[in-house]
This record gives sequence, structure tokens and C-alpha cells, in this order.
Amino acid sequence: MGYGPVVARIDLYAIVAKLQRRSMVLSTWVFIPLLLFVVGIAYWEIWVCEGAHLGRRFVIWLYDIAAFRYERIKQFDPMWEQQFLAEPVAEVLGTLPNAWVLDVGAGTGRLAHCLFQRPNIQASVICLEPSKSMLKSGQIRTPSESTRWVRGWAVPLPFPDERFDIVASLEILEFTPQPKQTIEELARVLRPGGWLLVTNRVGKEARWIFGKTFSRERFPGILEDMGFENVEVFRWQVTYDLAWAQKKG
Ligand SMILES: C[S@@+](CC[C@H](N)C(=O)[O-])C[C@H]1O[C@@H](n2cnc3c(N)ncnc32)[C@H](O)[C@@H]1O
Repeated sequence: MGYGPVVARIDLYAIVAKLQRRSMVLSTWVFIPLLLFVVGIAYWEIWVCEGAHLGRRFVIWLYDIAAFRYERIKQFDPMWEQQFLAEPVAEVLGTLPNAWVLDVGAGTGRLAHCLFQRPNIQASVICLEPSKSMLKSGQIRTPSESTRWVRGWAVPLPFPDERFDIVASLEILEFTPQPKQTIEELARVLRPGGWLLVTNRVGKEARWIFGKTFSRERFPGILEDMGFENVEVFRWQVTYDLAWAQKKG
């Protein structure tokens, strides 16, 4: 009779111990997978997509942080840059006196940098870039007499319709809120008969950048539907195809 409270306390201890064991099991089977899931999503969104689904300000914030390492990360091959960028752009420019070139999402001035290494380039290049730090690095790497830097977004572009002879946009489409709208805006500022030079993200990771990339098969057709002709798509880098397309007119 006198043992009643002691037995009740022991039972209570047993229940608490059981609950603790259960919560440990729960935390192992729920918390750890949940944590791994969250880390995986963060890795995918920040590392693979570079924040593409988190809004354009987030993307630019990442570029602001990484700008000082951009060249080291990319390791562009100067010969490759000449062959695939500078040479064909110079060839188009050769047929156009005093041409205007726009590079949207110019980064650290990749296009102007390699283009003006060639002799006798008679063109004005406008580099448009929203990240302050990328823009600053770009200003240092490009000749000031022929290159002008403008801070701004791809949509809307702060230029009138049909202003440029060549509009380039390299490795940026998938980071913009709506890639198709971005291409339309690039087309708007290109004069009829002018040339668009644009990349499409391909490779293993491309399909995980949901809603931001175009399949290899569909990309030429998309450009044609948007008013381009003479579309040629080259396999350029592991992660990017490079397309040339001429605006009808
Ligand atoms: C991978 S880098 C490419 C830079 C350069 N075109 C090159 O090929 O080295 C992507 C660039 O796009 C810019 N960018 C990202 N979102 C943008 C947007 N909505 N409008 C314009 N530029 C954007 C970034 O700031 C960054 O400089």
C-alpha cells in the first residue's frame, strides 16, 4: 500500500525515457534527412543556379561577392576567346563602319577585352552590367576610349529601339527572371539586319535550372519565332552553346 507514489514515479521516469528515446530516433530519421534536403536545395540554388530563382537582386549580390575571383574561376582561354568571339565579331564589324555593339551582362568585359586586342577595330562597345563590382573590374580591363560602361538590367534595356548593329549576351540568359523576355528585349534594341550573339546553357546541370534554359533542339526555333533568321548554333563550351542570329528586316 505504502509503495504507491514510488511506483507511479518510476512509471513516469520510464515514460519520459521512452519519449526521449523516441525523439532521438525521430530526430535521426526526420531532422537529419530534412537538414540534408535543405543543404542540397541551398547548394543547388546557390551553386548551380547562382540564385536564378531567388530574384535578380540576389543573383547580383552573388556576383558582387564573387567579382574579384571571376577571372580566376572562369579561366577563359585567350585563343579560344579570339576564335569564337573576337574573330567572328570583328568579321561582322569589318562590313560596318563605326558600328555600335552592346554587351548585355558584360561581366568583367570579356567581349570588349578580347575584341580590342585585335588591330583596327572601329566600333563603340557599350557594356551593360548590373553588378557594381563586376562593372568596376570590367572598367579596368577594357579600353576607355572605345568602351562605355552602363549600370543596368537586361530588362528593360535603357536604349532606344534598333540602336545597335550587334547585341551580345554571353552566359546570362539563365540568370535573368524571364529568359524569353530577355531575348525579346535584346531583339528590340538590335537594328533590322543586325546580329545577335547569345548563349544557351546546356550540359548536365542545365535541366536542373528549371524554367531558365532551352533544349538544344528547341533553341534555334525559339530564335526564329522571335524574328531572327540565319540562326547558327555552335557547341562552344561544356556548359554553353553559342548562337549567332540575324534580325529580319
Ligand atoms: C556568368 S556572368 C557572364 C559575364 C560575361 N558576359 C562573360 O561571359 O564573362 C553573368 C553576368 O550576368 C549578369 N547578370 C545577371 N543577371 C542579370 C540581369 N538580370 N540583367 C543583366 N545582367 C545580369 C551578372 O551580373 C554577371 O556579370
